[in-house]
Amino acid sequence: MNYIKIFSPATVANVSCGFDVLGFALNAIGDEMVFKKTTKKGVKIKKIEGANLTCNIKKNVAGVVAIAMLNKVNADFGIEIELLKKVKPGSGLGSSASSAAGAAFAINELLGNPFTRLELTEFARTGERVACGSPIADNVAAVLYGGFILVKSYEPLEIIKLPVPEDLWVTIIHPQIEVKTEDARNALNPLVPIADAVKQSANLAGLISALYTDDYQLISRSLIDVIAEPYRKNLIPHFEEVKKAGLKNGALGIGISGSGPSIFALCKGKENAMSVAEAMKEDYQNTGIEFYIYTSKINNQGIIILDSK
Ligand code: HSE
Repeated sequence: MNYIKIFSPATVANVSCGFDVLGFALNAIGDEMVFKKTTKKGVKIKKIEGANLTCNIKKNVAGVVAIAMLNKVNADFGIEIELLKKVKPGSGLGSSASSAAGAAFAINELLGNPFTRLELTEFARTGERVACGSPIADNVAAVLYGGFILVKSYEPLEIIKLPVPEDLWVTIIHPQIEVKTEDARNALNPLVPIADAVKQSANLAGLISALYTDDYQLISRSLIDVIAEPYRKNLIPHFEEVKKAGLKNGALGIGISGSGPSIFALCKGKENAMSVAEAMKEDYQNTGIEFYIYTSKINNQGIIILDSK
């Protein structure tokens, strides 16, 4: 294979009760990325559309991942990359993860698949470190594995793919403001009171159990975040109001997507996801802040190959 074009999905990390350990991939939003082998060694980012990002391969996460992988196998060829970013940086929808994990996946294909999915997640984490200072795995693993994933352990890295209830949909509202992951991480209290740790782990266990048993009511009762949301919600204008509007219209639960400002609502069925979208839209219009709304099924596949030669 000398050429590959992929769809690399946006992701929702944390999913309220799983700070840094839970994530899922989306169908409706994702980047398109093109990778070509070149006879000249090295990595070149030829074009970036849709976002104001650097083509410097030591600073762009796709470049960082590509260099690490080509060096690892001592490749006798180079790679040229084109990015069409639809997952906006600073959106809370895993923009850097989509680029980093997309690069890991595509370059592995061009190399003839020498790496496991877990190893690709490790490469993609190096991109996350460049993007936000921490090698977080929840977004990149969701891109590479698809569906819901649990980061069972960071050292050593262990990822568990969880089941996705058939009727689970998500509505996302993306206010057009930028929240830097690094800033949202600095806003947190690094010391969690033991009572909060108990609540958070009980809800995480409840949510995972609900995914295995298709128990939508238990999903609803488990989508509570006492660790990040209380600190981060102040970075998102009108968060409480839009959350109330979505819950009133039957969302199973609502929380901050990743580090924000996007807000996700898990819903049972498409119809419910659409009416929650309507309610959130109506409410957010009062803010005067521009926003996008998406409804999506959970993407159980992860990255999709659009074309290859
Ligand atoms: N789990 C990370 C955080 C995701 O919440 O900071 C960042 O997108």
